[in-house]
Amino acid sequence: MSFQIPRGTQDILPGEVEKWQIIEEKAKELCRNYNYHEIRTPIFEHTELFQRGVGDSTDIVQKEMYTFKDRGDRNLTLRPEGTASTVRAYVQNKLYGEAQQPTKLYYIGPMFRYERPQKGRNRQFVQFGIEALGSNDPAIDAEVIALAMQLYQELGLKHLKLVVNSLGDKESRQAHKDALVKHFTPVISELCGDCQNRIETNPLRILDCKKDRDHETMKTAPSILDYLNDESREFFENVKSYLEEMDVSYEVDPTLVRGLDYYNHTAFEIMSEAPGFGAITTLSGGGRYNGLVEDIGGPETPGIGFAMSLERFLLALEAEQVELPVQTVLDCYMITLGEKTKKQSISLLNELRKAGLQVDRDYLDKKMKAQFKAADRLNARYVLVLGEDELDKGVINIKDMASGVQVEVKIEEAKDYVLKQLEGGR
Ligand code: HAM
Repeated sequence: MSFQIPRGTQDILPGEVEKWQIIEEKAKELCRNYNYHEIRTPIFEHTELFQRGVGDSTDIVQKEMYTFKDRGDRNLTLRPEGTASTVRAYVQNKLYGEAQQPTKLYYIGPMFRYERPQKGRNRQFVQFGIEALGSNDPAIDAEVIALAMQLYQELGLKHLKLVVNSLGDKESRQAHKDALVKHFTPVISELCGDCQNRIETNPLRILDCKKDRDHETMKTAPSILDYLNDESREFFENVKSYLEEMDVSYEVDPTLVRGLDYYNHTAFEIMSEAPGFGAITTLSGGGRYNGLVEDIGGPETPGIGFAMSLERFLLALEAEQVELPVQTVLDCYMITLGEKTKKQSISLLNELRKAGLQVDRDYLDKKMKAQFKAADRLNARYVLVLGEDELDKGVINIKDMASGVQVEVKIEEAKDYVLKQLEGGR
């Protein structure tokens, strides 16, 4: 019997994993520049956190959570996203009491959703996300959006579309909600079963329905932007003007509602417009969630953040044919011939590695020609050849693979020689 990985998951193998590392490194570098600090929370949490945090009426909570009982009969869920966990940790660890506010956090890690797998939709996927807690300044909304855009752009994506919307404050949303109920009630029997429930639980979600999206009432549905009160409208205007200040282009889409319950004011998504990208074009999404910290048991605290999956990032890079600068060179490959040379070569190998070089050798007792082939395959810059004759003379041959030049140096001088050569070439 052979085993296969579960549907919707993937193995990321050497050759591919280097691309992930480049994205992760770049994300971390930008977080340092913007002063966001890493937070690591558990992969599973109490189920209630997501019911409360993400929202009972969302697809995530209704249909997509991996929920199980542990041996102590606790209801636990593999995290479907990072915001609820981050806010839980923020409250539990009283980060709101720290002197430096807002609290600016980021995470990179696996999330789990029981969705129908397809290109760009996995059951386990890796999200990079940031959350800024404790500021109601629209400039931080713009900062969060700018960081996401900068990450995509610095790694080479060009065909991006940033879509922003405002969902307003509580008062504006209530007015919009009433208008939506009024609008959809006369035709509710023509909409899907989910939407018939949504009109009771969360009418905004109807606008996000995949089944009913072509129903004619969708196009004429009341727009949130017509229901924003003065304060909400001003907030949105400010976010847009700060984006303009940073030369971040955007489009306003009043139908953008997002699939999670906690949003208010700013909501945004970044899409790929690369030709042939596929059906799912959203690369990342986020928004403001004032009220969530209170819902999770903390003090009244505003918050804003976004998340993107690395899977979709890589698909977008592929669609735009961007090659990430994956480095697969080895500084040195050690070739040895004869049993007697082994000890000496191992001690030199160890010395070179301790000096910070990337070094490898043969462990399969291959012939010299095959060892040279391996050095080639590994893109070694220098090949160190130690045979029994050299050993007797206390020397080693060092070949520069780019120029083909070969020199003989004393074994005890080999490390310094290679270091000097590499320094010169860098
Ligand atoms: P979300 O829109 O549910 O928001 O997910 C954010 C991103 O995660 C998506 O745009 C996509 O890149 C990725 N993603 C989601 N589901 C999948 C999947 N099944 N397969 C591959 N990628 C996926 C959130 O999760 C919010 N927590 C974002 C946020 C942070 N809002 C405020 N702060």
